[in-house]
Amino acid sequence: MQHEKVEKNIGLMIILIIVAISFGTLVELVPLMFAKETNEPIAGLKPYPALQLEGRDIYIREGCNNCHSQMVRPLRAETERYGHYSVAGEFVYDHPFLWGSKRTGPDLARVGERYSDDWHRAHLYNPRDVVPESNMPGYPWLFERTLDGESTGKKMSVLRKLGVPYTDEDIAGARSAVAGKKEIDALVAYLQGLGTLIQTRR
Ligand code: HEC
Repeated sequence: MQHEKVEKNIGLMIILIIVAISFGTLVELVPLMFAKETNEPIAGLKPYPALQLEGRDIYIREGCNNCHSQMVRPLRAETERYGHYSVAGEFVYDHPFLWGSKRTGPDLARVGERYSDDWHRAHLYNPRDVVPESNMPGYPWLFERTLDGESTGKKMSVLRKLGVPYTDEDIAGARSAVAGKKEIDALVAYLQGLGTLIQTRR
């Protein structure tokens, strides 16, 4: 009887749906706002240096995140393969996050320092040269395109508005840190920095 009233009154239905969704949202969100470890950077976390920041943008532009996640789950199978599970404080300066859940290739959250720069360059030029069974695409154009660093400082000042602690010197020096470098240099620098603050394997 009561239920019939709700189902036949669209206004009441809408209000009750909003109440239900708001309650669910609050239950998910409010604890996060008070949990320090979700918004405090872990010890030693630094904003991406200029070249790595450009590398990260190339990573996003090329869609690497469509095949690679960047989050090691706290499960034994994951930590034995990739290393320490990811913690929220590692990603405080990441805008946007690249956690993802689609894994056509392996998770890359802890790939930093696992391979040499030369390995990455060979792999990104043509993955089959180093991993014969790989179905990852090659990215040969990254070896040709040169960065001018024109917008790197600007990106940093925008990120600073979002709370990433770039200094005036970081921003002033951004262009010279990037100008003349190839896109592949930036991407490899980015990959080599991933997840290196916490390491349990190797
Ligand atoms: C179509 C899916 C796909 C895309 C897109 C892709 N990858 Fe991969 N990636 C793979 C697969 C599959 C492997 C495992 C085989 C291999 O090592 O090549 C892999 C392996 C890797 C590895 C080695 C990881 C390890 O722990 O051995 C790195 C590093 C990597 N990819 C980086 C990148 C980067 C950077 C990009 C973007 C420029 C990219 N991938 C784009 C599928 C992809």
